[in-house]
Amino acid sequence: MQQPRIIVVDPAGPDGLPYPRLLARLQPLEVRVERSLDKALDTIGRDAWDLAVLAARTGPRPETVLASLRQADPQLPVVVFDPRPDVTTARICLQAGATDYLDLARAEDDLEDSAERLLSGSRRRAAEEVLRRAVERPYSYAGFLGESPTMREVYSIIERVAASSVDVLVTGETGTGKELVARAIHAASRREAGPFVPVDCGAIPDALMESELFGHERGAFTGADARRMGLIEFADGGTLFLDEVGELPLPLQAKLLRVLQERRVRRVGARQENPVDVRVVAATSRPIDAMVAAGDFRRDLFYRINVVRIDLPPLRVRGDDIGLLAEHFANKAAQEMGRPAGGLSTDVYQVLKNYHWPGNVRELQNVVRRALAMSRSPTAGIDDLPDEVVTAAGRAAEPEAEAVGFFARRAEHVARFEREFLTDLLTRHLGDVSAAAREARIPRGTLYRLMKNHSLDAAGFRIREA
Ligand SMILES: Nc1ncnc2c1ncn2[C@@H]1O[C@H](COP(=O)(O)OP(=O)(O)O)[C@@H](O)[C@H]1O
Ligand SMILES: [Mg+2]
Repeated sequence: MQQPRIIVVDPAGPDGLPYPRLLARLQPLEVRVERSLDKALDTIGRDAWDLAVLAARTGPRPETVLASLRQADPQLPVVVFDPRPDVTTARICLQAGATDYLDLARAEDDLEDSAERLLSGSRRRAAEEVLRRAVERPYSYAGFLGESPTMREVYSIIERVAASSVDVLVTGETGTGKELVARAIHAASRREAGPFVPVDCGAIPDALMESELFGHERGAFTGADARRMGLIEFADGGTLFLDEVGELPLPLQAKLLRVLQERRVRRVGARQENPVDVRVVAATSRPIDAMVAAGDFRRDLFYRINVVRIDLPPLRVRGDDIGLLAEHFANKAAQEMGRPAGGLSTDVYQVLKNYHWPGNVRELQNVVRRALAMSRSPTAGIDDLPDEVVTAAGRAAEPEAEAVGFFARRAEHVARFEREFLTDLLTRHLGDVSAAAREARIPRGTLYRLMKNHSLDAAGFRIREA
């Protein structure tokens, strides 16, 4: 790498960030620290710089500074350092054109990666890339299909986040594409050649979870007759995808937090810790903010993984994406079944658009596949759709119409029962979800899901302190 010239914008001046130590690793030709934005803009206007470093929290709002920097030199990569990283600021910075957003506490490691990546390509190439992306705006990105504004925002966050090593939290209902996000981040990152290790925290029994994740030494417990590497170590150099992280038992949450902070793992029964280099992408379909409030998810771990949050919108709010996806799944299914591509009839599209898709993209995929498998002609019609989908969609299309069909009436009764049951249960337990779940004999996750369906918040049932 050619020696870079770096400009630092930090109102605290040279005493602000620990620049000398941080930037020394990059062996810059020149590091210039400017205390005011005006001075910085002036300096940028007069000379060519390779990288700008911006200190968050010390001066004007970062998006304001970023906007001015971009105006002064649209091609200058800007890395933001934040001593107190949080999701909102990360999102704001990335949207305002920051090339990277780094946790100051981890800056020493991350800056080097970040800078190397930013500085390696010639600036001309970087500029062309920006142009190309602006012109093409693909409706498909890294395995995702869909061009709704919310999904485009997701793609752009993935792209920016991939370049750094920050941990990411992906939230969204089941089937919205959380795993696809994790894979896309991995594939677009410099860890691409390393392993991608998915772990479903909800599927592994609690008793096995610790040794699965952290590994164990020989003789650590009965049955441990050989030492074994855990999945965290297995992901060394790559990406660890912790799916349904909300299901992780509390003691393991504490252990995981330690790994994320220290980047070291101690196998069960081991004395020493081994260093690991992983990026963690965690996902949850449960309302994790409510779980934190209820004490079911550790607040410190939440803050640690919530640095960058990608919230996937439910399919029902993605507008035309439903049609786009349905068409794609129909063509794919026809191909797999070795049938001519006849697609779906126009009224099928209408039904699909009106349905509320609780299982999101996964459900849509299944419904379309099934319809084509059932259909006698190459083009699937309404008769090939499941009754419940057609009925529910019909009801949504005419909200005034009274529910008359069997399925509609049944759904109405179930919904009313659920709502009364939950309200009563939560009232008696003063919003203590764990206790309520125990009494109802349902898993906490199920209770949370039901509450979410009915827009019930545990906090609303707690007695507020005067
Ligand atoms: N935007 C999308 N475009 C195409 N396929 C998608 C999209 N979102 C999800 N899928 C597909 O839907 C299925 C469910 O996605 P997944 O990532 O497993 O969801 P989640 O982890 O949120 O439950 C997968 O087969 C995935 O490939
Ligand atoms: Mg999943």
